[in-house]
Amino acid sequence: MTNKIVLITGATSGFGAAAAMKFASQHYDIIITGRRAERLQEISLKIQERYNVKVLCLNFDVRQRKAVEQAISSLPEPWKAIDLLINNAGLALGRDNFEEASIEDWETMIDTNLKGLMYVTRAVLPLMITRKKGHIINLGSTAAKEVYEKGNMYCASKSAVDALSKAMRIDLLPHRIKVTAIHPGAADTEFSMVRFKGNEALAKKVYEGYQPLVAEDVAEVIYYTASLPDHVCINDLIITSTSQANSFYTFKNS
Ligand SMILES: NC(=O)c1ccc[n+]([C@@H]2O[C@H](COP(=O)([O-])OP(=O)(O)OC[C@H]3O[C@@H](n4cnc5c(N)ncnc54)[C@H](OP(=O)(O)O)[C@@H]3O)[C@@H](O)[C@H]2O)c1
Repeated sequence: MTNKIVLITGATSGFGAAAAMKFASQHYDIIITGRRAERLQEISLKIQERYNVKVLCLNFDVRQRKAVEQAISSLPEPWKAIDLLINNAGLALGRDNFEEASIEDWETMIDTNLKGLMYVTRAVLPLMITRKKGHIINLGSTAAKEVYEKGNMYCASKSAVDALSKAMRIDLLPHRIKVTAIHPGAADTEFSMVRFKGNEALAKKVYEGYQPLVAEDVAEVIYYTASLPDHVCINDLIITSTSQANSFYTFKNS
């Protein structure tokens, strides 16, 4: 394989799906992963209709350590030369006060956003270390930078991603592996429908009165950080829509 290879977790929608299209347009071969197998197939077809690159679908849940390890170890040999890992799979569940929030929701967020990232990274890292190069991009959030009301465990899980990204950057220096953390503000994806468990009215409200980011905006920025020379690493990057300053301040029309 002559193209570079990117592995994207959570590529069935939102940032991950948009990043898959963007990297394919830039001649990367793509490994797309997620739980929804049909979505992976649809995206794979769409990429191959538009771009002359190879696509491999891996269908697993990042919370299942054994499934993650099996999926990565079963990669055909040419696909093991992964240049770039995008740890994007993640979710928020609920917006409730600390004393009322569902502990099951909390566990799902920690298992997905933190432990899932840890399982995938540890499975992919040996492949990068052998080649003495690689780039890992972790999706954090503005929620990692400022904790907001009723954001409790989502903010905590993304703060942990922020801390781990810093830790990984230090420990992986000798292996010449770059680590970038990207922290988006509000973006109109399936994120809010998942957070509000299918309540469309609540989900829509998040994006009312201003122009939020869309998945393609974030994909552009992800690609930018991956397209710099080998000796240049963007460590930490916050991206919001022009209407949003941080977790607290968004200028709305009404
Ligand atoms: N949208 C925002 O406002 C925003 C802002 C800041 C940060 N983020 C972060 O950016 C990342 C992408 O979010 P998005 O906005 O693109 O949301 P999205 O459209 O809901 O996409 C989330 C992706 O994560 C995957 N995923 C979730 N749980 C998984 C699991 N257990 N195993 C494997 N894959 C799983 C989903 O795939 P399956 O359901 O098919 O498994 C889906 O592809 C997340 O980490 C999110 O926390 C989002």
